[in-house]
Amino acid sequence: MVTSTAATVTLTPVETPTVYGASDRPPRGDYSRGGAVHLDYTCPQDWASYTAADHDTYRRLYERQATKLSGLACDAFIAALPSLGVSDRIPRFEEVNDRLYKATRWEIVAVPGLIPEVPFFSLLADRKFPVTDWIRKPEEFDYIVEPDVFHDLFGHVPMLFDTAFADYVQRYGEGGLKAHSLGACEKLARLYWYSVEFGLIRQPDGLRAYGAGILSSVGELEHAVRGTEPYRLPLKLLRAMRTRYKIDSYQANYFVIDSFTQLFELTAPDFTPLYRALTGQPDIDAGVLLPGESSL
Ligand code: PHE
Ligand code: FE
Repeated sequence: MVTSTAATVTLTPVETPTVYGASDRPPRGDYSRGGAVHLDYTCPQDWASYTAADHDTYRRLYERQATKLSGLACDAFIAALPSLGVSDRIPRFEEVNDRLYKATRWEIVAVPGLIPEVPFFSLLADRKFPVTDWIRKPEEFDYIVEPDVFHDLFGHVPMLFDTAFADYVQRYGEGGLKAHSLGACEKLARLYWYSVEFGLIRQPDGLRAYGAGILSSVGELEHAVRGTEPYRLPLKLLRAMRTRYKIDSYQANYFVIDSFTQLFELTAPDFTPLYRALTGQPDIDAGVLLPGESSL
């Protein structure tokens, strides 16, 4: 089922929104754009305003990351990466959409930066993935605090070419709207974090990354897939939704799936009883093994 988007948005997007996880500071990005930001927080990708330096930053990020993927990124990601098109400049979102829509009926839409929960979930439920259109400055080449166009496009969009994964993300959006009405967004957000952002998958030839936060990071790819420090546990819903996460360092634990179909099926049931069960259970710090657990 597709949930309609604009009707649920009550904020005035010309004001910079307060976004989950960044409430101590306003999100980066220009939310006014001379009135060009719509009620659902989407806006035109201002392609003409990218400078030669911006395109060059994208090209260098892409080139560096693409050489590191072999043996670390999952097959679905590597197969779909060329579908982003050009790698020597920031792609036009419409060009990506021509291919993405044909593959899985998903689209990408430009946004000025992080957006609030409800419009975010509404877009996903509508098979629209919000992609930040600005790019980091050269001095932020190795690390940025907020997602930019490189993280969103390179990290997330290739995975949306996989049918089962793409269906999972739509269903996550629908589940997010429900979680919002049940006051359970913090728990559900952990599942997004440990799957869409930092998920690992067990392929026949070994562990691989499918999470965008790993795939777009120069250092975390190796740490997540091969590093000796982090724990790797099979993905279980309650375990993942109880586990806090780090936003300012590599993850101390990752959760592993065997297939995107498994992920899709795992999340099919109604989460309402899970959220109820979670209220009685304490959070678990990142990087902690419970009795009886062992890292994969
Ligand atoms: N099935 C979940 C619910 O009923 C929603 C969900 C779907 C959550 C996909 C995560 C991923 O709330
Ligand atoms: Fe992301």
